[in-house]
Amino acid sequence: MDDAPARADDKPLLMTLEGQASARLPIWLMRQAGRYLPEYRAVRAKAKDFIDFCFRPDLAAEATLQPLRRFDLDAAIVFSDILVVPLALGQKVWFEEGKGPRLEAIREPEDIGALSPDDLESRLAAVYQTLEAVAVGLPAGKALIGFAGAPWTLASYMIEGQTSRDFARLKRFAYGRPEAFARLLDLLVEAVARHLIAQVRAGAEVLQIFDSWAGVLPEPELEAWSLAPMAEISRRVRAACPGVPVIAFPRGAGLTYAAFAESGGFDALGLDTTLPLGWAAERLQPKVVVQGNLDPVKLLVGGDALAQGVDRILEALGPERLVFNLGHGVLPETPPEHVAELVARVRGTRA
Ligand code: CP3
Repeated sequence: MDDAPARADDKPLLMTLEGQASARLPIWLMRQAGRYLPEYRAVRAKAKDFIDFCFRPDLAAEATLQPLRRFDLDAAIVFSDILVVPLALGQKVWFEEGKGPRLEAIREPEDIGALSPDDLESRLAAVYQTLEAVAVGLPAGKALIGFAGAPWTLASYMIEGQTSRDFARLKRFAYGRPEAFARLLDLLVEAVARHLIAQVRAGAEVLQIFDSWAGVLPEPELEAWSLAPMAEISRRVRAACPGVPVIAFPRGAGLTYAAFAESGGFDALGLDTTLPLGWAAERLQPKVVVQGNLDPVKLLVGGDALAQGVDRILEALGPERLVFNLGHGVLPETPPEHVAELVARVRGTRA
């Protein structure tokens, strides 16, 4: 049948995440769509601003598919942003050109009461339309990834109002107003779980939860505020969408990566750039598939730095139970040819 839906065994990323041996080692890159691509900058220029871009399914679908036209990657990740969730909860979010995200920050516990998940799916309908549009145009063998920010990382932007150096305001709120902070995390668990489930219904086949700022937390808060909410989200997603793999990316979690692996809550863990490969092979890979973790700066530099970085990861973690990725997102200054070099190296051929 020509139009039979693609099955997991047609898609290396899905097979690997399900723990099956795949004919080839899957690779995709965090921030694979972005400013390093001239065609991205051209589409971006058509939108009023970055938020408008995220809510224009025609433009966002185009940005999602651009990296797959250039490179032999195994997945598309829907073009959107983690901050669409605070926006859908009713918080003001905008992007200052050249500076990054800005939010009307939560200052007092009462500010949390102004947020509501009631209209979440209708406010995020454009994201689901993007997924539907991408699913139609997706080449055979490629998987479609949906994503969301983890509650801790979302809370960091919601309370700081922007990216922070030391997260002092966030931590003061979390340690000093524990009941209010727990309410915020509960609200975010519900919102993120619903957003991920809606993405699956729109065509996402894999989900990744980004906890970009997990690494600023001491124990035991890392387990309470990063691991526990992510595991609860994953539990709800698995109940609603059995068989859809969930990848957690608790960036900077260090030795606590072991607790993420042992929790049984996730199908795969995204390893950040600093995590030692031998330790990950021994402590994590027997329990979960691992994904990562090339330093994005090695990709930017290219040449020997890139080749040696790739080879070390393949030797330590390959070829089974590994999804090749970076340890964080592609940097805007990265020459696109280096991504082609990276893919060729992972495929075992010359660029
Ligand atoms: O290709 C993909 O990976 C999909 C799209 C994607 C974006 N943001 C698009 C984007 C994904 C998965 C994200 C996740 C995201 N967004 C995270 C988690 C991952 C990480 O990097 O730690 C975070 C923390 C954000 C919040 C955010 N969005 C910041 C801090 C910024 C500004 C930094 C920057 O690079 O400018 C953004 C903007 C953003 N999100 C851009 C893109 C392509 C650049 C915006 C532009 O085009 O000007």
